[in-house]
Amino acid sequence: MYCTRKINKDLIWIGANDRRLALFENIYPIPNGVSYNSYLLLDSKTVIFDCVDKAVSGIFFENIAYALKGKSPDYLVVHHMEPDHAAAMEGLISKYPNIKIICNAKSLAMIKQFFGFDIDSRAQLVKEGDTLCTGRHTLTFFMAPMVHWPEVMVTYDAQDKILFSADAFGSFGTLDGALFADEVEFEKDHMDEARRYYTNIVGKYGPQVQALLKKAESIDIRAICPLHGFVWRKDIATFMGQYKKWSAYTPEEQGVLIVCASIYGNTENAAEVLACKLSEIGVKVTIRDVSATHFSYLLSDAFRYSHIVFASLTYNMGLFTNMETFVHDIVAHNLQNRTVSYIQNGSWAPVSAKLIAEQLGKLKDIQTLGEVITIKSSLKEKQLLDLETLARAIAEDIKTKRG
Ligand code: FEO
Repeated sequence: MYCTRKINKDLIWIGANDRRLALFENIYPIPNGVSYNSYLLLDSKTVIFDCVDKAVSGIFFENIAYALKGKSPDYLVVHHMEPDHAAAMEGLISKYPNIKIICNAKSLAMIKQFFGFDIDSRAQLVKEGDTLCTGRHTLTFFMAPMVHWPEVMVTYDAQDKILFSADAFGSFGTLDGALFADEVEFEKDHMDEARRYYTNIVGKYGPQVQALLKKAESIDIRAICPLHGFVWRKDIATFMGQYKKWSAYTPEEQGVLIVCASIYGNTENAAEVLACKLSEIGVKVTIRDVSATHFSYLLSDAFRYSHIVFASLTYNMGLFTNMETFVHDIVAHNLQNRTVSYIQNGSWAPVSAKLIAEQLGKLKDIQTLGEVITIKSSLKEKQLLDLETLARAIAEDIKTKRG
C-alpha cells in the first residue's frame, strides 16, 4: 500500500524506508536502517526529484501512482547517479516512457554507463544556473560536484524556497512516520547518525561541501529536502552550522577520543588509566576499542573531538589490522586540524606510534602533543606519572584552545 507524506500543498514525499539492509554501500552498518527520499512536485508540469534504491522500488512506484492519481509524471530530475537513488530509474522509464529526464552532462554519461535504455531522446541537459518553469514553480539547478560524486547537482525551488540538496544534509536512519527534523528529537536521537553519515559519505570532500554551503548562503532557504533522512524546515541554520564545522574539519568539541587496540588488555589498561586521569581533571573523554567498534563510528568520533590518543599494540612488527583500518580511514577522509598523542605497546619491538605518525604525516594541521608513552607488555607503576603528565598536557592544551 502506498505511503506518502505531504510537505506542502504542491510537494509530496514519495520515498521509502529500508530496515533490511545491514550495510549501507555494503560497508557501513545501519542498525537503524535508512530512508531513500524522493519527492513529487505537483504543478502544471509534474516533477519527480530522484528515484530510490531497487530494494524499495515497489512502494516507490505505488506512491507515484497514488500521488499522481494514475497520470504520468512529466519530468524526473536526477541529482545523483549513485544507485541508492538511481537504481529505480529504469523501472520508472518503462512505466512512464514519455517522462523527460533533467540531468547534467556528467549524469547523462553515467546513465549510459548504468543502463541500456534510450536516454538521448529523453534527456534535457542543464548546467549551473539553468532554470525550468513548471507552472507556478521555477526550478534553478546548481552543480555540487563531489558532494558526493562528480555529477551531483542540487535544485532550488524559488516559489517555496526549497533546496533539494541531494546527499548533503542527509542522515542514516529510517523516518518511522516522521518526515520533518522538528518532529523528532534530532539533536538527542539523530545527530550522531547524521555525523556518521556525513563523515563517512562526504567527509573526504570538505572543500566541495563548503562550496555548496557558499551557494546555499546566497539564496533564501526555508526548507531542505535531502535524499536521506529528515526534511528541514526549522533550525536550518543550526544544522548548516554543523556542516560548516564538519566540512572545515573544525572539531565539534574540545575533548579526547582514545582509540585503543589491545589483544590481552594491557594497552586497554593504559587507555583506561589515562581516561581516568583526564576525567579527574575535568576533560571530556571517550574510549573506543577498534575491535569492538566499527571504523565508521570511530571516524565520526574523530571528526567530533579535538584530541585523539592512539593507544595501540604492535602486531607482527606492524599495526594491528583494525587500527590500521582506522588510521587508513582518517587519512582517506582527509581529517585535519587535530591534536594527537600516542601510547604504544609491544612485547619485543613497540613501533605502533611511529607507524601511525607516518600515516598521519599525510594530513594537514596535525599537532603531536606529549612524548610517546611506550609500554613493554604491561603498564608499570612508574609509568603512571607519564600518563599523568600526558593528561595534564592535554588538559592545558584544551584550556588554551578554548581561550
Ligand atoms: Fe545516497 Fe551518494 O548516495
